[in-house]
Amino acid sequence: MADKKIIAVAGATGAQGGGMVRAIQSDSGGPFRARALTRDVNSDKAKELAALGAEVVAADVDDSKSLEQAFAGAYGAYCVTFYWAHLSPEREGASATNLARAAKAAGLRHVIWSTLEDTRKWVPLNDDRMPTLMGKYKVPHFDAKGEVDHVFSDLGVPTTFLLASFYWENFIFFGAGPKKGADGTLALTLPIGGAKMAGVAADDIGGAAYGIFKKGPELVGQRIGVAGEHLTGAEMAAKLTRALGKPVAFNAVPPEVYRGFGFPGADDLGNMFQFYRDFEKVCNDIRDVARSRSLYPGLQGFEQWLSRNKSRIPLE
Ligand SMILES: NC(=O)c1ccc[n+]([C@@H]2O[C@H](COP(=O)([O-])OP(=O)(O)OC[C@H]3O[C@@H](n4cnc5c(N)ncnc54)[C@H](OP(=O)(O)O)[C@@H]3O)[C@@H](O)[C@H]2O)c1
Repeated sequence: MADKKIIAVAGATGAQGGGMVRAIQSDSGGPFRARALTRDVNSDKAKELAALGAEVVAADVDDSKSLEQAFAGAYGAYCVTFYWAHLSPEREGASATNLARAAKAAGLRHVIWSTLEDTRKWVPLNDDRMPTLMGKYKVPHFDAKGEVDHVFSDLGVPTTFLLASFYWENFIFFGAGPKKGADGTLALTLPIGGAKMAGVAADDIGGAAYGIFKKGPELVGQRIGVAGEHLTGAEMAAKLTRALGKPVAFNAVPPEVYRGFGFPGADDLGNMFQFYRDFEKVCNDIRDVARSRSLYPGLQGFEQWLSRNKSRIPLE
């Protein structure tokens, strides 16, 4: 074990980082060992990671010193930030900057930064197709990540830029799944019209990231999206219908209606779905399914994900 190269993993008890740790540790003959970063080394999730053989260390993306210590002696790092924990683009940018600086200080050889598009490159602030949010963003949780990509490059950190897709787990945990209407029938409500949206099983992001670390330096500087399948809302509803054994309709509300749903971040997500809808090719070309599968042969499509997870989707 001592000769294994250490990959420090931010958000290790979460969706992306957890998948990363599991991918590393499940390849027992592989070249890497995971160092799982968590704010609470005593949590049940942290103990589960330790049981897989990961080294578990305390760190917080808001605390630069803790990151410097956590990255010291490592070969690489998986860097992810947590927009939905605080809903602050500025804080997300600061966390990412802390991660980049710690990576530089530790002299890491390969870093994956889990970023997203700065949508303002396609929808400038004066474009009123979608409202400007918080004074200077179109899709705050995308833009905040994309706008700090240059920090990794400017510092000379050898970085691969990974772009995740819509997690299908949002149908389980994020309230995005089919809901019963007044007449009792289920409907999947997404403001994506007839566009195909890139989706992914959250755990597979870590699998693809592992493929990126295995390929190594040849992928430094590249932007790589990870998707299991590109599907329209109607296609997702049809697959949900078959998997659940109950009819699920697709309810293609306009983005302005979705933005008005009133839950925290509804406007941000309304703009995000509109970006997926209006810039379908931009989003899907980079989130190439064949390339994702070449990095991670176990990549799931939506039906495979449903066969494993359908009983976890709350149908209220
Ligand atoms: N949902 C989607 O469809 C989707 C798609 C693409 C991208 N994303 C992006 O994914 C990011 C979140 O990643 P995720 O889904 O893997 O997160 P997650 O599952 O919500 O996990 C968050 C983990 O991060 C840790 N965490 C929270 N605040 C932290 C802090 N200040 N310092 C250190 N760790 C902290 C927590 O671990 P501890 O408590 O153990 O520290 C928690 O387990 C978001 O920025 C989001 O925009 C989401």
